[in-house]
Amino acid sequence: MKEQLELIKAQAIAALDTADTPAALEELRVRYLGKKGELTAVLKMMGKLSAEERPVMGQIANSVRADIENMLEQRKSAVHAAALDAKLAAEKIDVTIPGNTVAMGHEHPMNKVLQEIKDIFVGMGYQIVDGPEVELAAYNFTRLNIEEGHPSRDRSDTFYFTDDDKVLLRTQTSPMQVRVMENAKPPICILAPGRVYRKDEADATHSPMFHQIEGLVVDENITMGDLKGALITVMRRIYGQDAQMRFRPHHFPFTEPSCEMDMQCHKCHGTGEIDGQVCSTCHGEGWIELLGAGMVHPDVLKGCGIDPEKYSGFAFGMGLERMAMGRMRINDLRLIFDNVVRFLNQF
Ligand code: DAH
Repeated sequence: MKEQLELIKAQAIAALDTADTPAALEELRVRYLGKKGELTAVLKMMGKLSAEERPVMGQIANSVRADIENMLEQRKSAVHAAALDAKLAAEKIDVTIPGNTVAMGHEHPMNKVLQEIKDIFVGMGYQIVDGPEVELAAYNFTRLNIEEGHPSRDRSDTFYFTDDDKVLLRTQTSPMQVRVMENAKPPICILAPGRVYRKDEADATHSPMFHQIEGLVVDENITMGDLKGALITVMRRIYGQDAQMRFRPHHFPFTEPSCEMDMQCHKCHGTGEIDGQVCSTCHGEGWIELLGAGMVHPDVLKGCGIDPEKYSGFAFGMGLERMAMGRMRINDLRLIFDNVVRFLNQF
């Protein structure tokens, strides 16, 4: 029996020595120490021993069990440590490798120019206001003196939401004039930038969505001189003191008199051509139209409850993209909306 116990111990120790996974160790534990294990099987035969032999064998058996248990614990911690080492080696991080850089964006060139323009007007006492892009035809047209049947109301020019043509995407920021005047009394001095929509094909100077900046000043004794003074001051701040501008008489239903203001083309410097070719930025005009303006029509004032005998006002609406193109020397409007990073990175 003693030999049997010694043999079990030797076999168990040898087997444990080479077992290198938790599963293999567990299997050996069951095999040698388990209820149906080899050691238990030998102990069960103790009953057949004599009274003198039994304590001696019992002692040997206990020390064999203790030796196997010790070895098992040792191997368990060795296997565990080896597994941990392997895991740590596999998951090793080289903290000296440079990290992934996060590309930082910046303001869109058009918004930069918008901010610049807003700052200039705010410095001159204008208040910035915001209004709806989904607008009523009443504000976009009727109350601006644009009668039924006017070509700008045509379905081929305007995006309507309803069959009765009463709700639309605003085609201009001018409805903000009415929205402001029906709520505030003079003196009024506001700037209303925002998106406008027209059924235009996109080309170098047109897009079905673009931005306008509406301005409105109403008070006693406001004249065309104030209009020209304000716009020339702003344009020189934006484009430099030597920027060339011109005012042309024009017609708008909601202003009287009306005008348009052009800036000399920054691409061809007013010649209308580049290397014998028609300048693609101004279509050979030499000038780029920047805005429409005029003295607010007395009927528009009256329609908003403002007495045209007492008050007068000027208004203007400029195209932001055109302003940005001139300011940033961009020669195709579509580049502003394409959002190609290579392009945007230049600003
Ligand atoms: N709303 C006009 C347009 O989109 C521009 C305009 C002209 C605005 C004259 C005005 C103005 O405020 O007085 O063409």
